[in-house]
Amino acid sequence: NSTDTLMKIFLTGVTGQVGFELQRSLSLWGEVLAPTRHELDLSDMSAVSHWLEIHAPECIINAAAYTAVDKAETDLQTTLCINQDLPCVLAQYAARHAIRLFHYSTDYVYDGSGQDFRSEEAPTGPLNAYGRSKLAGDQAIMDSGASYIIFRTSWIYAARGNNFLKTMLRLAGQRDHLSIVADQIGAPTSARLLADVTNIALARRDVPSGVYHAVCRGETSWHGFACQIFETARRMGYELRLQNDAVQAITTEAYGAPAPRPLNSRLSVEKLEKTLGIRLPHWQDALSLTMAELAFSPLQ
Ligand SMILES: NC(=O)c1ccc[n+]([C@@H]2O[C@H](COP(=O)([O-])OP(=O)(O)OC[C@H]3O[C@@H](n4cnc5c(N)ncnc54)[C@H](OP(=O)(O)O)[C@@H]3O)[C@@H](O)[C@H]2O)c1
Repeated sequence: NSTDTLMKIFLTGVTGQVGFELQRSLSLWGEVLAPTRHELDLSDMSAVSHWLEIHAPECIINAAAYTAVDKAETDLQTTLCINQDLPCVLAQYAARHAIRLFHYSTDYVYDGSGQDFRSEEAPTGPLNAYGRSKLAGDQAIMDSGASYIIFRTSWIYAARGNNFLKTMLRLAGQRDHLSIVADQIGAPTSARLLADVTNIALARRDVPSGVYHAVCRGETSWHGFACQIFETARRMGYELRLQNDAVQAITTEAYGAPAPRPLNSRLSVEKLEKTLGIRLPHWQDALSLTMAELAFSPLQ
């Protein structure tokens, strides 16, 4: 019976980059309950518990998070509430009702030392409040006894929402030169790709509980990412005020953001590729697709 596969999914963070892409792709599964902030305040744990009891979802996908990395340093209470308490409550519900929880975590749970690609078994050591809160969320899920999948990802961008890609395109239209950090190395990852990966993992019900790195292949710096954005934009016919060769490479220290960032965010994706039988695209290919989508969104 084909309706046996239909599932009631509770999706959080639907107005975010990943949440929006998930809502689109999850619709094939049956019913997607995706309340906005106005419908359900995720910092209110009794409201969240009440929502769960009333709606009785058969799967939870938690794409909500407190993602303002610098603000998190001083806004600790809200950060911990959304990044630690919320996943804990969701995981406890999932454990009690024997349903699966999908969750997203970050390269910022690692300390960024060395030059190598990290595996999921590498020791954690977050450098900032955001990373510590995300690690605490991961730990709460692992300790809950729930069936879970945690995707650790990095440098997310999308055609929609606030992100580095859109900031760069805006600045390139306003300024004739820019200074971009060149000593943090990682992989830009599109929100669309994460939604696709989540759907595959959802369809494969035998994927073992665990942490999986989910990022694009390849590596670059924020400076390299920016240069690729500008090159692609020029090729697509964007008119940039920014001059060719006017993107200065600077250090993390010189940029001076309030929260420290890991320098090495290289994450190995071998475990995810083997488990799901997939090959993740190179970050440049995923970027081209999102930029092609942006080019047809004049209202954004
Ligand atoms: N962005 C990155 O570069 C990055 C990198 C690595 C990992 N991650 C992880 O990937 C996941 C998805 O990130 P993203 O970039 O898609 O996040 P995002 O665009 O910042 O979206 C966050 C979502 O959480 C919602 N939210 C936050 N507080 C809420 C509250 N009190 N009540 C209701 N909703 C609330 C937001 O709602 P509003 O729109 O109403 O604020 C929004 O829908 C997160 O787990 C994040 O930690 C992100």
